Order: sequence, then structure tokens, then C-alpha cells
Amino acid sequence: MPANDVDWQALEEAAKHAMRNAYAPYSKFPVGAAALTEDGRIVSGCNVENASYGLTLCAECALVGQLHMTGGGRIAAFYCVDGQGNILMPCGRCRQLLYEFRAPGMQLMTTQGIKSMDQVLPDAFGPEHLEETT
Ligand code: THU
Repeated sequence: MPANDVDWQALEEAAKHAMRNAYAPYSKFPVGAAALTEDGRIVSGCNVENASYGLTLCAECALVGQLHMTGGGRIAAFYCVDGQGNILMPCGRCRQLLYEFRAPGMQLMTTQGIKSMDQVLPDAFGPEHLEETT
């Protein structure tokens, strides 16, 4: 999807709305993420922490859950914000989560402007590698 066809402002608003629902009593670092699907839906998620700290679910985990709960499909564009509403780069694990469901040419709003999935997770491991035989 061409960058101009993405309503980045709508994605930013959805990410901020999601962020306000975050459960982050331990880190006090709320996060919201939103994505535009290839078929035009907006899905979102917030981080959900746990008293067993390592079990924390990042906002992107909730997002990919909602993606599937609302019809599946692929992510064309992605936006993530911190508690101040500033653009946040997805953590390494979450880049992998997003990679799984990327549409061709998926774009991410980053602190350095719009980037492709391949730029933020180069040489990625993906489902296609599981099909390789030795
Ligand atoms: N966090 C996310 O939700 N997504 C990211 O991509 C980066 C980190 C959350 C996890 C934790 O609840 C808080 O930010 C601080 O690490």
C-alpha cells in the first residue's frame, strides 16, 4: 500500500487510545500500538504487565491477537506510541511478531520517519524458512 494511502493520523489516534488502556503498574511505561490491515481495518493493542514481570505482554502481542480475532489478514502499516504519545520503536521480539503478519511492503512509523519492515528487521527469520528442507 503506498504511504500516501495510509491515514497515519488515524493510526496515531488509535495507538494513543490503546495506550490509555495499558496495564503497566510495574514499569509505569504504557504503550499503545495500532495497525492498518490490507483490507482497511484498524486493529490495536496495549501492554499488559504481570506481577511475574517476565510474563509481560507487549502492546504488539495484544494487537496481533486482535488482528486474528477480527478476521485475520495482513498488516500494511503500523504505529506505536509511549505514554506521552511519542512514536516508539517496537522491541525486537515484537518486530518478529509483526514480521509474521506483514503485508508486502509493510510500513512502520518510526522515530526516523516511515520505514519498511525489512529495514527494521533485516534478514529476518520467517515462516518461509520452516518450509526449507535439509
Ligand atoms: N513494551 C511494549 O508494549 N512494546 C514494545 O515494543 C516495547 C516495550 C512494553 C513492555 C513493558 O510493559 C513496558 O513497555 C516497558 O518495557
